[in-house]
Amino acid sequence: MEIGELKKLFDDMTIEEKAGQLFQTVGAMYDDEVVISGPMQEMGITEKDIQLAGTVLGTMGAEKIKRIQKKYMEAHPHHIPLVFMLDIINGYKTVYPIPLAQGATFQPDLVKECAAMAAKEGAADGLHITFSPMVDLVRDARWGRVMESTGEDVYLNGLYARAMVEGYQGADISGGEKLGACVKHFAGYGGAEAGRDYNTVEVSERTFRDFYLPAYKEAVEAGSALVMTSFNTINGIPASVNKWLMRDILREEMGFDGVLISDFGAIGECVNHGAAEDRADATKKALEAGVDIDMMSGTYPENIPALLKDKSISVELIEECAWRIMKLKNDLGLFENPYKGADEIKAKACILSEAHRELAQKTAENSFVLLKNKDNILPLDKKKKIAMIGPYIDRRYMLGGWSFTGNPEDVITIKNAAEEKLADYEIVYAQGCPILSEDVKLEGFANYTEEKFSQEDCEKMKEEALRAAKEADVVVLAIGEHFLQSGEATSKGIIEIPKIQQELFEALSEVNSEIAVVLFNGRPLDIRILEERAKAILEVWMPGTMGGAAIVEVLRGAVSPAGKLPMSFRYCVSQVPVHYDEFPTGRRHHPGKDKDRYVSKYLDMPNKPLYSFGYGLTYTQFEISDLELSKTVMKPGESVTVSVKVKNTGDREGTETLQLYIHDIAGSVVRPVKQLKGFERVILNAGEEKEVCFTVDEKMLRFLRADNTFGSEPGKFEVFIGNSSEVEECKVFELLKG
Ligand code: NOJ
Repeated sequence: MEIGELKKLFDDMTIEEKAGQLFQTVGAMYDDEVVISGPMQEMGITEKDIQLAGTVLGTMGAEKIKRIQKKYMEAHPHHIPLVFMLDIINGYKTVYPIPLAQGATFQPDLVKECAAMAAKEGAADGLHITFSPMVDLVRDARWGRVMESTGEDVYLNGLYARAMVEGYQGADISGGEKLGACVKHFAGYGGAEAGRDYNTVEVSERTFRDFYLPAYKEAVEAGSALVMTSFNTINGIPASVNKWLMRDILREEMGFDGVLISDFGAIGECVNHGAAEDRADATKKALEAGVDIDMMSGTYPENIPALLKDKSISVELIEECAWRIMKLKNDLGLFENPYKGADEIKAKACILSEAHRELAQKTAENSFVLLKNKDNILPLDKKKKIAMIGPYIDRRYMLGGWSFTGNPEDVITIKNAAEEKLADYEIVYAQGCPILSEDVKLEGFANYTEEKFSQEDCEKMKEEALRAAKEADVVVLAIGEHFLQSGEATSKGIIEIPKIQQELFEALSEVNSEIAVVLFNGRPLDIRILEERAKAILEVWMPGTMGGAAIVEVLRGAVSPAGKLPMSFRYCVSQVPVHYDEFPTGRRHHPGKDKDRYVSKYLDMPNKPLYSFGYGLTYTQFEISDLELSKTVMKPGESVTVSVKVKNTGDREGTETLQLYIHDIAGSVVRPVKQLKGFERVILNAGEEKEVCFTVDEKMLRFLRADNTFGSEPGKFEVFIGNSSEVEECKVFELLKG
């Protein structure tokens, strides 16, 4: 509706109705037989609160949502529609790879297509908002939520943040196939101390602004309809009541005028943090920080009436929040059509459609990272006898810890795909071991139970696998983390492959040295043992509905792996946090070249990760040479062209991702040893050569300077172009003073 009309409607609403908009509830509250009980009752939440609530979390299904919407609107004094929100993280019913895997594609456009596909399915099933993208910068793989991020690089994260928002929302969120995005978790959630979820974040304002904030800013500038607060404190103050963060940075500096929603229960938790005396105090502080919706604390409906009555908060403060929510409803087009895209027939037609499954498969194929491939053991040779072993060979649970909307029954396993696509190969299959031993506890999906095996079953399984391995020329071993070992509340101190699977690997490698590991995980693991003893390692993350089909295409060489790591695989856990864009220090360690021992290094392990950011092999080889600059002096306003030649020196077509890194040699503030500033995927035939150019301009050289302004500084810069962040060769240019 016209904004004037919306204003009129708003002015006609009572303050009670306006306050109701700030309360988020769950769909079950609108069932006919619902009785308010448990924590809701304890909080004093009444039927009236439910009737005046503004938004709903966690309900899905076109028919159900339409039913709730109708019933709710009929009873609401002004017939205001509800907004339905859900976590659609890596696909709705057609599940594509987890966000960290999407990061490995180095293809924001592909990621945008995936987001658009998720929006199409979700919107047809009645939803209006997804709690995605999560753009938290991650440097610590102990934190289980690294699987929900796109990795450790500030530039790459920003590109994906924009791509996802644009994919979900399109040009206009009122569209029947679109969802509003909600960028989260504002801010700095990935910096949790010791990788423990929900923990304290202590980070300097400079690092916060320079590394953590840019991706959220990108999402806001791309028009994200909502922002979600984070659970953590940021330098002593919980984000959900942090006025500086929400008012000064988010609203003022970033210009965000959309809806700010708390994370689940985060406002109430400010009491636990010790940042509010009680829930009333937390409510007041969150409102003052401009948090519009209280997700599931229940503290807004519980405390707002009394706070208004004793004038602890103003009517204007409530109206400010309620107005933003009403504007969101209007932007979603709900006043014209409260059911928006909800359409059972359309849902049936698009959910898991051929086109969606193809896109999910393509994205999975593009997200795999070949970490090792000794003697070109991959792709598989048709002439060789193959044993496909491991708990992931015929496993459907490869959707990732957030994909409760996806149905494992829809998943294509490796075995399913191999039986079809590798029908003319000689293959035997064996599970080898369960995914976890009995003693490993899992928390997570309410209805999920892992199949149990007796000791005797396990022994039999292992024997069968050993027999198969002995008789085979090549073993494809599919192993990895359980899908519930990464995601929310899954911090881990030991980030290795589950012990029972490691034991299987060791036993198999005693009888057959030709092992190609297909590795599943939500976070970079410590895989030194695989690096030492496996011939090949193909990182496949949690690849989604079409995971098995994508894996088989890569194993047989119909598709060549081309992904690059979006997050370093640390050497071992005590190396964390580890990221390629580190500062040089006054005593930088140069392996093999240090002049004395007083440098910043370990005695017992390398500084370098096992596999660094940007790394990834393919089935052919590339030679990168002839790094050139168009000039060595750049005036402000000018640009420098940096070029290299890249040649496919192998015997088959392949894709290489050339990465442009820059190092500002000296600044008013120290700068990282390298920072990604651009990349290009190049597809070359065997023997083909191409020149690849990047344009470097002054904007790419900006950072938060010592005087707290963003800008560049004159001086010298090293430029690198390589196929991972480990590239060493560089050229130098100088930026002149303006
Ligand atoms: C808590 C999580 O931190 C957040 O990411 C999610 O969107 C909400 N729960 C809602 O499920």
